[in-house]
Amino acid sequence: MDLLFATNNQHKLREIREIMGTEFNILSLKDAHVDIEIPETQETIEGNAVQKARFIYELTGLNCFADDTGLEIEALGGRPGVYSARYAGAGCSFDENIGKILLELSGNANRKARFRCVICLILNGKEQTFEGKIEGTITADRCGTDGFGYDPVFLPDGYRQTFAEMPAYLKNGISHRGRAIDKLVKWHKNSEVAE
Ligand code: IMP
Repeated sequence: MDLLFATNNQHKLREIREIMGTEFNILSLKDAHVDIEIPETQETIEGNAVQKARFIYELTGLNCFADDTGLEIEALGGRPGVYSARYAGAGCSFDENIGKILLELSGNANRKARFRCVICLILNGKEQTFEGKIEGTITADRCGTDGFGYDPVFLPDGYRQTFAEMPAYLKNGISHRGRAIDKLVKWHKNSEVAE
């Protein structure tokens, strides 16, 4: 089944294609000839995931999904959270965002953080959301060059490598996005059986 992924983030597209396996054929916006900025103006991760999926569904009428992710740092009261993409200011780089959280956490012994991802799926006009989380800590310095976003400073609990040091299959197997997609695929399999 074709499923359009409502994102302009090529890192996410690559990860989702690696995670999804053969269950769905993931179409990019480019495959669907859609070249547009997708609004994400809500105040929650859930709200943004739903807003992005509805926007693309209303535009194309195709089965689609969107994800929204936030890095929630305990000592920062859950920030950057829904503001993770633009934490250091509009148009900022991944590295500037990392610089800002490292500065805000400097000297702080509490480095606990989690990635939280919400996926909103619109299938045959019906909406469904799925959440995936991964707990970890923020390292003192950047480690590794793979992945994207905050990966160089996120050390998942129980591992000795940051997301940016891990091979992609390992990150995808435990990540917030991997876990949310896992739930989506299981839900879809069950709903096929129920039909
Ligand atoms: P978005 O709003 O869902 O596009 O994501 C917000 C921001 O969170 C992105 O710009 C990245 O900086 C960060 N982010 C999302 N997913 C990941 C991930 O898997 N690893 C590291 N950072 C991520």
